Amino acid sequence: MPQTKIKNRQFRLKTRPVERVVPDNFSFIEEDVPDLKDGEVLIRNRILSLDPTNRIWMTDMEQYMPPVEIGEVMRGLGIGRVAASKNPNFKEGDFVSGLLGWQDFFKAGADELKMLSKLPEVPGVTLETFAGAAGMTGLTAYFGLLEIGQPKQGETLVVSAAAGAVGSIVGQLGKISGLNVVGIAGSAEKCKWLTDDLSFDAAINYKESNWKDQLKKATPNGIDIDFENVGGEIMETVYQRMNLFGRIVLCGLISGYNDTDDSKSRLPLSSALMKRLRIQGFIVMDFADKNVEAITKLATWIAQGKIKHRETIVNGLENAPTALNQLFDGGNVGKLLIKVSDD
Ligand SMILES: NC(=O)c1ccc[n+]([C@@H]2O[C@H](COP(=O)([O-])OP(=O)(O)OC[C@H]3O[C@@H](n4cnc5c(N)ncnc54)[C@H](OP(=O)(O)O)[C@@H]3O)[C@@H](O)[C@H]2O)c1
Repeated sequence: MPQTKIKNRQFRLKTRPVERVVPDNFSFIEEDVPDLKDGEVLIRNRILSLDPTNRIWMTDMEQYMPPVEIGEVMRGLGIGRVAASKNPNFKEGDFVSGLLGWQDFFKAGADELKMLSKLPEVPGVTLETFAGAAGMTGLTAYFGLLEIGQPKQGETLVVSAAAGAVGSIVGQLGKISGLNVVGIAGSAEKCKWLTDDLSFDAAINYKESNWKDQLKKATPNGIDIDFENVGGEIMETVYQRMNLFGRIVLCGLISGYNDTDDSKSRLPLSSALMKRLRIQGFIVMDFADKNVEAITKLATWIAQGKIKHRETIVNGLENAPTALNQLFDGGNVGKLLIKVSDD
């Protein structure tokens, strides 16, 4: 009897998006999972992390990693379970995280295995949490605020995309650091979550016409740290209220990712000079040597209930391209994930 081959569904990049991502930017194909050779491991993808950077990787703009090439499996962070192993360092049932791609299975040889991390078992920290608050998302918030923002007790922090994956953790780390925390988000429900559940001092819905006045009111002593996730008009408005020696943590500029014209984010640099502002971009992996220490702290705060988190979970790998747009429409609260499988 011929053995039935395991099938692997994959999204391969077909065309680069012009504005929003559309399903037609990908070919959704199915191929046999090749047999494992010595040293290789087969990973069954469980959870796929949808991130604004997926949109960046689909373009050929200047970026921090090579763009995904046309015809390549779409790059994506994920968590999976070792389904079969011919490598003594990985056993069936181990959970790993890394760039597993937009597909059902990831076959890893020696080079790919070096880029994967085995997940520790931490009571109360689920796989979904490791894909968000105790994973890359939490690390981005942690390094961005603590290493670059250099917070001092009593200062005022403003964070944009505050009810999203990174922003919601930044604000809570701000509270742990003794800051006055103001979030900017796109709906009344999101703002209520930030103040009522996450203890932000204030939250402003930027879709309300008087939001700039509300920001002024919420930051009577100016702004010391801008944790910038959005760019454009939101960043320009926050910029005008920066204090002397303020820090702008340039984490992301999501308002421009679907836009070929990035001229929107021009700031009057004379203010940066006069107020001696520090504007620093960063990428989470710049601090990779401190990951273990940071994840330990984040997982502890999560287990103690000091950091709360939410996930928006979409079922089915096949929905990844359309679900990605939630990040640009504000459809997600907290971390946006795709559930690929239960096995
Ligand atoms: N530097 C790094 O290493 C690093 C790592 C991870 C993420 N990032 C950046 O961090 C930012 C947040 O990422 P995330 O993964 O946490 O995503 P997220 O905040 O969970 O989702 C994106 C949110 O951005 C808001 N948004 C989208 N378009 C907007 C616009 N035009 N104006 C205002 N708000 C808009 C939406 O919420 P509303 O409903 O509030 O509009 C949306 O929910 C992104 O800029 C991303 O590129 C950087």
